[in-house]
Amino acid sequence: MLFTKDNFGTGFKWGVSTAAYQIEGAHNADGKGPSIWDVFVKQRRKIANGEHGDIACNFYNHYADDIALMYKMGIPNYRFSIAWSRILPQGIGPLNYKGIDFYNRVIDFCLELGIEPWITLYHWDLPQELQKKGGWTNRDIIHWFGYYVDCCIKHFGDRVQNWMVLNEPMVFTGAGYFLGVHAPGKKGLASFLAAAHHAALCQAEGGRIIKSHRSNYKVGTTFSYSHIEPFTSSSRDIAAANKVDALLNRLFLEPLLGMGYPVKDVKVLERIERFVYPGDMGKLQFDMDFIGLQNYTRELVRYTPFIPFVNAKIVSANKRNAEHTLMNWEVYPSSIYEALKRLHSYKHIKEIIITENGAAFADECLNNEINDEKRKYYLQDHIYKVLQAKEEGVNVNGYFVWTLMDNFEWAEGYRPRFGLVYVDFATQQRIIKSSGAWYSNFLKRSSIMFT
Ligand code: FCB
Repeated sequence: MLFTKDNFGTGFKWGVSTAAYQIEGAHNADGKGPSIWDVFVKQRRKIANGEHGDIACNFYNHYADDIALMYKMGIPNYRFSIAWSRILPQGIGPLNYKGIDFYNRVIDFCLELGIEPWITLYHWDLPQELQKKGGWTNRDIIHWFGYYVDCCIKHFGDRVQNWMVLNEPMVFTGAGYFLGVHAPGKKGLASFLAAAHHAALCQAEGGRIIKSHRSNYKVGTTFSYSHIEPFTSSSRDIAAANKVDALLNRLFLEPLLGMGYPVKDVKVLERIERFVYPGDMGKLQFDMDFIGLQNYTRELVRYTPFIPFVNAKIVSANKRNAEHTLMNWEVYPSSIYEALKRLHSYKHIKEIIITENGAAFADECLNNEINDEKRKYYLQDHIYKVLQAKEEGVNVNGYFVWTLMDNFEWAEGYRPRFGLVYVDFATQQRIIKSSGAWYSNFLKRSSIMFT
């Protein structure tokens, strides 16, 4: 197969994504308040090798070089997030103008170089002051979050057109409030369901607030979405796969589309009703301009009596000898195609943008070069699958690589490197990997690629 960037059309948005906590560092600089991640990483045995994002890529001080590097690579769109507690140290109340200034500089420099900013409002770093009051489990979050969104639009909305409300609500509520493996490390069904309902309300409310400032802002929100298949064709595995699909892929999407929670498929979700106030079900709905699809792999699911509520488990890639990345995520490019087709089948989705796709491999830096052929092929194969879906009529209009540069990968620390650019964390040196050189070439020259 043979194709170029031109096959996607001129309006297609190519870019890279990052998130504040994973790159910025400067965790307590210039009046920033602590976030739940600043606190979580200091707890014992939460993060691989006891690592943390105190310094990370030091983007706070390196942003100009990093944005200049994007420019040099010909990357026209940059998706990044705002650290809520950098601009509102207490979560609500007094503004930290030094924090506002930082994002102003980032935005202005992007615009100066012709790079379009795409802002994610919430990429998991809740102000710790709000967590002290229960964080996402406290219904007041609707008010706190609204205040924050309003501040962002007031201060940055004169120059930024593209907004994403939440990053992967299923992951931050599931990993942070059910499994306890991400910040704030809470466990249990009740805290998960409360957090989930409030996040689903905020997702829609955030959209309404942005649009109330200006109706022509381009507003979306992002979802983790992996194509899910039953491990065998047994009816028990099929039922298990369907439940996991409802939970991982549809829990936040369907209420946004006005379809309510997928309680028919996952009975236990009925218990979310405890947290639902009269009028809430209508408020969950919001007509987004686009849905951000974040896809990395597919999941195979089998029945098990040992996992409560869903009676299902994911069969990991290494256990079935499938080719996989350092995250133990199967390399399966058709997943992105299947996910696109599936999202396209929901009639209320207007437009889809791939807001994350990428892979972690064990990169080695030899003589200042990183020959990451596997990542290059991963990206090529996935981009090709996006094209295939597009040519079959799916309204997909953008693709953002996760991620610009190696960074702090949450509970996994610094080992999984996802970047197009290698980061030497001891010296903060950046080196474009061969995958980065390929992406750059693809963007600049519409170069032909073979897969
Ligand atoms: C996604 C997150 C992103 C990054 C990638 C690998 O779930 O949104 O921050 O960690 O996975």
